[in-house]
Amino acid sequence: MRTRKLGNSGIEASVVGLGAWVLGGGAVWGADTDDNESIATIKSALDAGITLIDTAPAYGFGRSEEVVGKAIRGRRGQVVLATKCGLWWDDQRGSYFCEFDGRPIQRSLRPDTIVIELENSLRRLGTDYIDLYQSHWPAVAPDKTPIADTMACLMKLKEQGKIRAIGVSNVSIPELGENLASGDVASNQFRYSMLHRAPEQDMLPACRQNNLATLTYMSLEQGLLTGKVGMDRSFSSGDFRSNEAWNPWYKIENRQRVLDFLAGFKPLTEKYACTTAQLVIAWTLAQPGVTHTLAGARREAQARENARGGDILIEIDDLKAMCKAVEVLGEPIR
Ligand SMILES: NC(=O)c1ccc[n+]([C@@H]2O[C@H](COP(=O)([O-])OP(=O)(O)OC[C@H]3O[C@@H](n4cnc5c(N)ncnc54)[C@H](OP(=O)(O)O)[C@@H]3O)[C@@H](O)[C@H]2O)c1
Repeated sequence: MRTRKLGNSGIEASVVGLGAWVLGGGAVWGADTDDNESIATIKSALDAGITLIDTAPAYGFGRSEEVVGKAIRGRRGQVVLATKCGLWWDDQRGSYFCEFDGRPIQRSLRPDTIVIELENSLRRLGTDYIDLYQSHWPAVAPDKTPIADTMACLMKLKEQGKIRAIGVSNVSIPELGENLASGDVASNQFRYSMLHRAPEQDMLPACRQNNLATLTYMSLEQGLLTGKVGMDRSFSSGDFRSNEAWNPWYKIENRQRVLDFLAGFKPLTEKYACTTAQLVIAWTLAQPGVTHTLAGARREAQARENARGGDILIEIDDLKAMCKAVEVLGEPIR
């Protein structure tokens, strides 16, 4: 597995990271999640060369962090542990964001909630330091903590050795600039995939310019770009993937277009002796400005498969042909 630095932090992390959102379970991921299977999945990812694991307190209200903590016990030194702060559910501090499983979540980057969140994460993860501590979503009104105040708090935690590097997630370009002006930012996490390419316009170039690691998320479009979400697969009503307004590519007429598009890569999956998911991961990692990509996995086989995507180097002409196919696919029918 190739590794790359997380910005200027000096931390090397595998180019494919294991995304642990699905391991938190809950209605948003549809199926019942089995913690023993989740632990086996994380161990398989590590065995396959993945060192970067991305989780968050909000993933299953602490459950994802707890299973990650159990899975890495005895192997902490092998792991670049990335978690987050900023989605808060203990009380009314912060500003209302959304509901997960019927429980309201607040967006809060207040120093007083961050210090509590960090202690909770350390306990659940069974560690005394976090390698990459990311603000999950920027603060918003009415309880909008100034970015400089949040960053001052994170810098203090870094000085104390509780976190090794700081990252941001889901920020706009101005918010990214303000974060960079206020402290040491090593990474930026945002949605990017063959079907969601807006970051190519400004975010990826800005990250390159500022030597930030980029942790792309949903680069497999929650399974759609593996080619394994067929026309007959249905999702329960709480599952994100049933929300066609949120992700129109899951609409049945778009799904067929995606399946046809992926079928066009058959000569390439044969040439590189890989699966569609692996080719998509390799394409993502080859895009200018992308340093790392997060791939969620629910099962051991998925984790192993996705890890291998980090080893594939696609030749330039093949990359160009893939980019052309992505252009031709265009926009989803809404
Ligand atoms: N910062 C943020 O706001 C934010 C937002 C979203 C995600 N993230 C991070 O990014 C990570 C990745 O995003 P994601 O998990 O939402 O989406 P993803 O990586 O695009 O998709 C993960 C899902 O796709 C399916 N899958 C994965 N590999 C597969 C394979 N090889 N074959 C078949 N199916 C496969 C699995 O779902 P099934 O088993 O159900 O099919 C899996 O749970 C998250 O886990 C999280 O760490 C961060």
